[in-house]
Amino acid sequence: MPTVERCICYDISFAELKEIADKIEADLETLSARTGCCTGCGMCKPYVELMLKTGRTSFPLLPVAELRRLDQSP
Ligand code: FES
Repeated sequence: MPTVERCICYDISFAELKEIADKIEADLETLSARTGCCTGCGMCKPYVELMLKTGRTSFPLLPVAELRRLDQSP
């Protein structure tokens, strides 16, 4: 099964993003401003949100409907 492990637009892995987020206690907005993640195509945003919530840095490729649902959840 394919996995998602990075922001392709800015070529930065979720592991690297997690390290930065942990170091500066960043939320999604701060992490995006600092690294550019989620500001290109935006496809990584639901995964980065999951990373911040769960601490995981590798995810199965999620169906589009699930990504939309996650993107709209608080
Ligand atoms: S994959 Fe992260 S902004 Fe496109």
